[in-house]
Amino acid sequence: MNFHRGRRLRKTASLRTTFRETRIAPENLVQPFFVVDSDDEGFESPIDSMPGQFQLGLKSLEEQVSVAVDAGITSIILFGIPKLKDNIASQAYAENGIIQRAVRSLKSRFPDLIVITDVCLCEYMDHGHCGIVKNNLVLNDPSLEILGKTALSHARAGSDMVAPSDMMDGRVKHIRNLLDAEGYYELPIMSYAVKYASSFYGPFREAAKSTPSFGDRKTYQMNPANSREARREAMADIEEGADIIMVKPALPYLDIIRDLRQNFSLPVAAYQVSGEYSLIKAGARLGHIDEKQMVMETITSIKRAGADLILTYFARDIALWLKQEE
Ligand code: PBG
Repeated sequence: MNFHRGRRLRKTASLRTTFRETRIAPENLVQPFFVVDSDDEGFESPIDSMPGQFQLGLKSLEEQVSVAVDAGITSIILFGIPKLKDNIASQAYAENGIIQRAVRSLKSRFPDLIVITDVCLCEYMDHGHCGIVKNNLVLNDPSLEILGKTALSHARAGSDMVAPSDMMDGRVKHIRNLLDAEGYYELPIMSYAVKYASSFYGPFREAAKSTPSFGDRKTYQMNPANSREARREAMADIEEGADIIMVKPALPYLDIIRDLRQNFSLPVAAYQVSGEYSLIKAGARLGHIDEKQMVMETITSIKRAGADLILTYFARDIALWLKQEE
């Protein structure tokens, strides 16, 4: 018969494995952690909307990172929850801020682990916005200075990569210049270049206690309806000195990941965000879906679309599943 017989190469598990086009390795994954500035370093509080994720004191963080490293995780990203929030985000760049302390202790215990630090102000501001606020407006240029200070303080603490997620214009350039001037010219910047104003961040804001007290983030994060603008944002960050460009969220924006992959030669990262995680967890809890299969399918889709690196709360679990299959 002279028609296409796609089933010939799907016939057995070994044929399917042989002709599989996309593979996931633990090195492609980044595990996020939430670290709390608490007097009780053994502090551990489950995040209701993200079953399996915790706010962790410094000591608990070390333990959880150790578990992830044993599972095969090679990169993590840290988010901090400070004791004190104010209107200048002073704990974001304090030498003894929670992130700075966490980086120092993790790097001394796990020297080979890639420790990425999220550079943003929303968790450190009493109003929960990602920049300096005046008259209920989020001001761009005055925010750059403290974003720069924050990135520099992470560099001094020993961060392996800074990841600005604030979406202020010009922040990559500002951070790059400052890092270079201070001798950190080899510290990579992973920019949240294409970050949409998304409903999928809801659970994260509970986890990081960073819900804005007024308004929303639509004046700085992107309109989900736009794709040409994504290319423009990526181009700007590349010109400003980004080493890796990120798309966020991931699964609802696979077209954008593909577009950046095809148009730029830099590594592309994608963030499977809190809402993507919570949906799968909730569906699995209700017994409507198979968690492991759905996680692997979403991660494979994100990689197939063109992401080199995937930030996901499932990272450690995926690494363990991959190990079981070996
Ligand atoms: C900080 C930041 C956010 C996320 C990562 N960095 C929240 C936001 O922009 O509101 C979201 C991550 C997630 O939802 O998992 N600006």
